[in-house]
Amino acid sequence: MHGNLTHHLEIKGACAAYGKVPVLKGVDLTLGKGEVVALIGPSGSGKSTVLRMLMGLTPPSAGEIRLDGESVDYRKSSNVRRVRDRIAVVFQQYNLFQNMNVLRNVTIAPLKIKKRPNAEVVADAERVLAKVGLADKLKAYPDELSGGQQQRVAIARALCLNPEILLLDEVTSALDPELVNEVLDSIRTLAAEGMTMLIVSHEMAFVREVATRVIFMDDGLVVEAGAPKDIFDNPKTKRAKEFVGKILRH
Ligand SMILES: Nc1ncnc2c1ncn2[C@@H]1O[C@H](COP(=O)(O)OP(=O)(O)O)[C@@H](O)[C@H]1O
Ligand SMILES: [Mg+2]
Repeated sequence: MHGNLTHHLEIKGACAAYGKVPVLKGVDLTLGKGEVVALIGPSGSGKSTVLRMLMGLTPPSAGEIRLDGESVDYRKSSNVRRVRDRIAVVFQQYNLFQNMNVLRNVTIAPLKIKKRPNAEVVADAERVLAKVGLADKLKAYPDELSGGQQQRVAIARALCLNPEILLLDEVTSALDPELVNEVLDSIRTLAAEGMTMLIVSHEMAFVREVATRVIFMDDGLVVEAGAPKDIFDNPKTKRAKEFVGKILRH
């Protein structure tokens, strides 16, 4: 028997550690097709580690992760490859190749790693760059772009891998305030198109607007999960109350 197929992604009792230091202590989380789940919580609560664990960068030490009902064995490189074929991640630091133009940055992985045909990859790249509002920047180099534009290139680069699930880790946190909204707009577009996403964000108004569900983490555990209005307007646990109170006050 396979797991519940309505869940695209299912994390059950997942633990992860950096060396001997336990960081995730039994995380449960589900992500349905087309859902936008927001992961919130204090700094150090383990949000980034959840995303790193899913990508096999910090593999789980216990628990289970299922993709479309199929258990992933992170000790097997074939399983890790399969996960990375289906899930893409964008981090706060966009890490574009400075010596390559926008088109090259977006196409290099599908061409070199996935060995897909050039014409097809370039067509995909043009499509995803248009989606993030950068159709006129194909030939630009990263240092000719604003931080918001560079982060949108990073999102396009992830989309060009044709992921089924997109993970976004505080992708607006390093940006000047006036550049945040253009990046959020790109994510809004993806959400409206039904992209399945797991988003770590401190932009609470944005989370409230786009998230189908909000998951509050603290100290390596999911403390509370629910609809955005439940978590923001009526948090049940003391820790969620404190966090939401602090973050909504400024
Ligand atoms: N590379 C690392 N080595 C050791 N400890 C780490 C490393 N990365 C993160 N941690 C620790 O793991 C905990 C969770 O970190 P993280 O997942 O980055 O939290 P968040 O994204 O919620 O701020 C923190 O206590 C952090 O100090
Ligand atoms: Mg983090």
